[in-house]
Amino acid sequence: METIITHSGQFPSTRLRRPRLQDWSRRLVREHLLTPADLIWPVFVREGDGKPEAVETLPGVFRHSIADLAREAKQAYDLGIPAIAIFPRIDQADKDEDGTTARNPDNLVCRAVRAVRDAVPEIGIITDVALDPFTTHGHDGVIRDGMVANDETVAILTEQALVQAQAGASIIAPSDMMDGRIGAIRKMLDAHGHDNVLIMSYAAKYASAFYGPFRDAVGAGKTAGNVGKDTYQMDPANSDEAMREIELDIQEGADFVMVKPGMPYLDIIQRASQRFNVPVFAYQVSGEYAMIEAAAAAGGLDRDRIIAEALMSFRRAGCRGILTYHAKEMAQRLND
Ligand code: PBG
Repeated sequence: METIITHSGQFPSTRLRRPRLQDWSRRLVREHLLTPADLIWPVFVREGDGKPEAVETLPGVFRHSIADLAREAKQAYDLGIPAIAIFPRIDQADKDEDGTTARNPDNLVCRAVRAVRDAVPEIGIITDVALDPFTTHGHDGVIRDGMVANDETVAILTEQALVQAQAGASIIAPSDMMDGRIGAIRKMLDAHGHDNVLIMSYAAKYASAFYGPFRDAVGAGKTAGNVGKDTYQMDPANSDEAMREIELDIQEGADFVMVKPGMPYLDIIQRASQRFNVPVFAYQVSGEYAMIEAAAAAGGLDRDRIIAEALMSFRRAGCRGILTYHAKEMAQRLND
């Protein structure tokens, strides 16, 4: 007997492929978007007026002179990127045990902020609060009795935040993971009339090996102090604790919170975005960037597509924006 194919139930009446068949309908049902406004560009600055210096472990990333940085910031802003995050490579001569230069109103970061503010008045400028680029041992705080001293570090960080705000920073971003620093910094800023300066806290920052290339970029990598950041950064095994960290930072006055690293911690980003009513940001860190570049260079992957796909994963997980070293390139492509 001849078999006649009918719609008698042996074929599905619900076909999820239907809206996938055309470009217009794929666009119509798309749940998440990535735009240049979702991107924050982390940039490295160095002393002197030399040419951009390649960061060996981060192909395509450079340490810029202040003048170049101002030009780069202008280009980023023109591409629709709302904000940049400035990280300094401090000369060895300006480092000491206590990271004293961090509090100097004429340090590299403050001079870079003033130059960018001058060149691109409308751009958001994010500055990192932590001592690691400034200390000879590479820790985020001062060392007393063999450990990073919390409260003394917090007092120093409030001064670091203040000089950055005075230089014209729009967002203070403490990445040190000391207890109580958000409240202390908020108080310091407000006491000096900087009540409109925002705070983006690195609230859930994990003790991660994915920061390796960054430490190379800022020259904080190969020092003896490189071990032991797990006495202040979070244990990668913990998730509930991240919620406590974030909750505390919000109570202390954080406007925005951040989860870092990004892609290995998408579960944390999703939990945080669902639970808290503040904008959550993710930092796709140096090691994530390096992995993508290395994999693409090794062949077999479509570089442009994996960059876009990785960034979309953050939006799908629920975060508001992403700090990424691919920001400028991605914004360029989104505009084309
Ligand atoms: C320093 C700081 C780090 C990063 C941002 N701020 C490194 C660290 O904590 O050791 C990492 C960024 C990256 O890897 O891209 N407090």
